[in-house]
Amino acid sequence: MCGIIGYIGNKDIIPILIDGLKKLEYRGYDSAGLCVLNNEKLNIIKKKGRISNLAKELKIKNIKGNIGIAHTRWATHGEPNKTNAHPHLDCKKEIAIVHNGIIENYQSLKKILKKEGHNIISDTDSEIIAHLIEKFYSDGNLKQAVIKTLKLIEGAFGLAIIHKNEKKIIAARKGSPLIIGIGDKEMFVASDVPAILNYTKKVIYLRDNEIAEITKNNCSIENLKGKQIGRKINKIKWTAEQMEKGKFKHFMLKEIFEQPEAIKNTIRGRIKDEQIKLTLNLDTNLIKRIIITACGTSWHSALIGKYIIEKIVEIPVEVDYASEFRYRNPIIKKNDLVIAISQSGETADTLAAIKEAKSKKAKTLGIVNVVGSSITREVNSGIYLHAGPEIGVASTKTFICQITALLLFALYARQRKGLKINKELLKELNSVHQKIKLILQKSEEIRKIAKKFKNSKNFLFLGRGINFPVALEGALKLKEISYIHAEGYPAAEMKHGPIALIDKNMPVVFISPQDNIYKKILNNIEEIKARKGKIIAIINKEDKKINKLADILIKVPQVKEEISPIINVIPLQLLAYHIADLKGIDVDKPKNLAKSVTVE
Ligand code: M6R
Repeated sequence: MCGIIGYIGNKDIIPILIDGLKKLEYRGYDSAGLCVLNNEKLNIIKKKGRISNLAKELKIKNIKGNIGIAHTRWATHGEPNKTNAHPHLDCKKEIAIVHNGIIENYQSLKKILKKEGHNIISDTDSEIIAHLIEKFYSDGNLKQAVIKTLKLIEGAFGLAIIHKNEKKIIAARKGSPLIIGIGDKEMFVASDVPAILNYTKKVIYLRDNEIAEITKNNCSIENLKGKQIGRKINKIKWTAEQMEKGKFKHFMLKEIFEQPEAIKNTIRGRIKDEQIKLTLNLDTNLIKRIIITACGTSWHSALIGKYIIEKIVEIPVEVDYASEFRYRNPIIKKNDLVIAISQSGETADTLAAIKEAKSKKAKTLGIVNVVGSSITREVNSGIYLHAGPEIGVASTKTFICQITALLLFALYARQRKGLKINKELLKELNSVHQKIKLILQKSEEIRKIAKKFKNSKNFLFLGRGINFPVALEGALKLKEISYIHAEGYPAAEMKHGPIALIDKNMPVVFISPQDNIYKKILNNIEEIKARKGKIIAIINKEDKKINKLADILIKVPQVKEEISPIINVIPLQLLAYHIADLKGIDVDKPKNLAKSVTVE
């Protein structure tokens, strides 16, 4: 949700800011802008639309300087246009700010500022920050003016601020991620690691209610009470190459194809001598109930986690949307464990849910991909996915890695109980990457199927048991990147309503592996066939019946039930990708979406 990059050093700033913005474009892409300080003058350029528009504009303007801030926007308050794009300035055009997050009390502050004579020109909540800093600014003390401002504003912020007379950047955060990159006689501020990886791997994660004063040689951090804070420098393991598309047309396709490697990385070092090795800061033997909370795709893996944990370790599991959990005053008992699943580790609702759980004294565990992210700092214990950066808006590789992490957790908890763990399951988990490779070879076959269905207006995805959440995920993937209306259902629920939608124009994707409920799912397929729906069946074994009933079969390798969602989701990711690509949609930046949802 919006991206920030700031630079202070000796290099030519424009290429650094534009490169940083491009790397952050997955966070928001409806308008962009930058402000560069040169000779005590703030030069500001803003454009509606993609970063490429801003870059074009910059080619015809000769902007130079070594201190600057830039922003790519995902609109919350005010439509995406040039005026509402960041950076925002104060009345005197001496202070420039870029802001991620939402200022909840901006209306009342705006009223006061207007009464005091401030000329506020945008519809955003963010612009008032520049005017408040202007109000409190006295010569040479930008930091103090920012602190006074932050004490007044309510809501979430990741902020970078410059003043025309000061050779520094002030950065501050509350609820919206911000990092400081340490270079050689240069410093960066960014909302996310990809923006600065080409220049440095040394970062400091700013924490909530902290403010940093950054010069090209130094960075000092304090809290809002003025207490100096020492912070360790972290080394980022991701490489700049991982942030590139390479030979792939889109990040999403690259990330689908990275899945064999990603799952190996989640497992690496965690299965040894037929034992699960996890270092958790909690005693799983004491857990009486688990609540898993997440959003979107991560919520789908949470649903799969329920099947896995209940089957393997027999602890009851509830699954809650993070946005619902946080506001329904959840009942938490002693010995409850609350698990938050999140790729980014920054999703506002999931972060708030875990804070709510903590406030009720629950033990907490995070299953997160992004190292050092906010959720990882809130939880008592964690399992990193190590899936590598996921740039495409649609989650793919992290979904299967989340399922893998949940499997490892369940097996670990079972082992801790002194119960035998299924060695065959471990063996299969260790080699599942090879089976994923076999499905990826079907990409062209699936593209041909996509050609047949790309003009469909609706889609249904049906599955049962552990593969019902896979149906939900298949529908989410398709709708978010192809804009085709799609719904996922437990197959047996269809006759309670959705069956009314079936006719010759309705493609229905069945996840139909030969498991203990295969016969039941065949009945559901018959019901669709009788109403002339078009059947695409994901199967792991052919038989006469399915051959006769299905219009299209996509065969995947056979695996144990617990692992089957990892296998079955891959053709659905490819189907969604190819349909969206054939429709000419910018798959990595579908409309209205952003990769990490850091606002409520
Ligand atoms: O970073 P998180 O896993 O917490 O994100 C949760 C959802 O916003 C995310 O899964 C979203 O639904 C994706 N666009 C799905 O592809």
